Parts: sequence; structure tokens; C-alpha cells
Amino acid sequence: MMRSTSSFMARLLAVAGEVETTLEALLADETRPGEIARPARLMGALRHASLAGGKRLRPFLTIETARMLGADGPGPLRAGCAVELLHCYSLVHDDLPSMDDDDLRRGRPTVHKAFDEATAILAGDALQTLAFEVLADPATSDDPMIRSELVLRLARASGLGGMVGGQMLDLAAEGRYGAVTADQDGVRRLQAMKTGAILAYAVEAGAILGRADAKTHASLVAYGQTLGAAFQVADDILDRESSAEALGKRTGKDLEKGKATLVDLLGMAGAQAECRRLVEQANAALDGIDADVGTLRDAVAFVVERQS
Ligand code: IPE
Ligand code: IPE
Ligand code: MG
Ligand code: MG
Ligand code: MG
Repeated sequence: MMRSTSSFMARLLAVAGEVETTLEALLADETRPGEIARPARLMGALRHASLAGGKRLRPFLTIETARMLGADGPGPLRAGCAVELLHCYSLVHDDLPSMDDDDLRRGRPTVHKAFDEATAILAGDALQTLAFEVLADPATSDDPMIRSELVLRLARASGLGGMVGGQMLDLAAEGRYGAVTADQDGVRRLQAMKTGAILAYAVEAGAILGRADAKTHASLVAYGQTLGAAFQVADDILDRESSAEALGKRTGKDLEKGKATLVDLLGMAGAQAECRRLVEQANAALDGIDADVGTLRDAVAFVVERQS
């Protein structure tokens, strides 16, 4: 399998730097137009949740897809930051005692550990609404159709038929609402919802900003969905095989919670074969696109080869 190239890693790091700077500005202490006050404790929790950590893969996908299609201006970086804010909200809530009950995230205490549970719930809420505000702001695009499409698609990807719905199915898959028999299709569907939808949106946001034609748009969404599936199988493999030191989050959790993953259903070798199959499928989705898809191909390799 092809290895993530050093130029890809350099580009990922460069984008992460730009994302950090933009998030810092969005999470500054000063109120923004229309706000009454920014409570200091909430700001501390928002910064803890979203600054200094994370691979920033989702904004990378938005920015690289938009750039590949010739989009310029601040839109791709802003939309990428919106996806990252939404992602950070999903992590804060995912880690809550009532959800995965985790105390380590990105190598640091989770938000409910560093602050408290109520603050973590509110921080997640605020990250989510900020994500939509950033997309709806004319600074992201002067075209209201593009802004509304960005908002509509993120609402669908993150809501009941996407990430949130997937999290519901994921908790049910632990057996906490009654015995469940896990099957491959069920696990694939819940993973497509909890993880795939936001990753696919990250790519789609780039397609929207780059005004992709319908065929290219559909190919890019198919690529994003498959990349998302590969991403979550890799996450499940890392949960089983890696360490908290390498990942910055606790490992062995899925087994401990009796969570059904493809690693259980297919075995470790089977899950690795599934990753390879998804890599081929994601690359095939890029085949018909009339643009330089090299970075998006590198991203597929990165997703399954990553060590964190
Ligand atoms: C972790 O996502 C949560 C899943 C969807 C599996 P990432 O592995 O992208 O986490 P960060 O953003 O790099 O911390
Ligand atoms: C999390 O899946 C998916 C979302 C946050 C929506 P996991 O629960 O497997 O993610 P980690 O392993 O805690 O990062
Ligand atoms: Mg979870
Ligand atoms: Mg979790
Ligand atoms: Mg996991």
C-alpha cells in the first residue's frame, strides 16, 4: 500500500496551522456583532475543546477539495473551520460520562474533566451553533445560494439522519437499551452516520465552494463517504491495537463496552482487508474527476495508515 508522502504530511500540518489561527480568532474573548457577552468559563471550555490538538483532517479535506476546483478567498478555510467546530462538539459530547465516559482526548483531559459536565454540554452546544454561524456569515461566501447549501448539508450530515442518529445507534449497539444482534450491514450503517456523514460533508463543502458540476459533486460525495467508512474501521483497529500514548485517547474501549465493530464481526485480518477494499473504492470514485485529485488520493492512504 502506498505510504503517506512527506509532502502530504507537510501540507496537512500547514493547513492545521491555518485552522488553528482562524479558530483562535473565532474564539477570541471580544464579543462579535450581535452577541451580548462571552462568558469566560464557556470560552475556556471552547478553547480547550478546539485549540491545540487534532489532525484537522476535515478542514484539510474541505480546503484541498475547494482548492482543487479553483475556489479562492477565505471561504474554504472558514468552511473547514466550521466542520472542525462541529467535529469538536461531537467529540466533547461523545466523551461525556453518559456517552463513552472518557477522560482523555487529544492527549489532554476531556472537557468535562477539565471543567465539569454541565460546562461540557454547553460547550458542545456553543461549538455547534458557532459552526453554523460561520457558514451563514457572508464572509464565507458572497453568494447566498452557496451559504445556504453549506448550511443545509451540514445540518443533514450532523443531525438525526447523520452524526447524532449514528451516535444513538452506536449507544444501542452496546446493548444498553436491550440485547442486539450486530450484523455487518447494521454496523456499516451506524458508522456511515456517526463518522462518514461529517467526513463526506467536509469534502462536499469543498465541492459546493468550488462550484463543482453535478457529476463531479456526486463523485466527491461518494469519495467522502467511502473515506469516512475507511476512517472509522481504522479508528476501530487503532482502538484495539494502539495505545493511549500514541492516540491521545484511551484505547480498548470498544471491547470493554461490548461495542459491535467490524473488528469483532470480521476479525482483525478481515477489518484490515475491509480497509484495503475501501481504499480501492474511494480511489475509484475519484477516477472520473477532471482535476488534479492527487492530494485526495494521498488522503485515502493517510486515513488507513495513520498511527493516531
Ligand atoms: C475521532 O476523530 C472521532 C471519530 C470520528 C472516530 P479524529 O481521529 O479525526 O480525531 P482528531 O480530530 O484528530 O482528534
Ligand atoms: C465517535 O466515535 C464518533 C463521533 C464523535 C461522532 P468513537 O466514540 O469511536 O470516537 P473516539 O474513539 O472516542 O474518538
Ligand atoms: Mg463514541
Ligand atoms: Mg468515543
Ligand atoms: Mg473510537
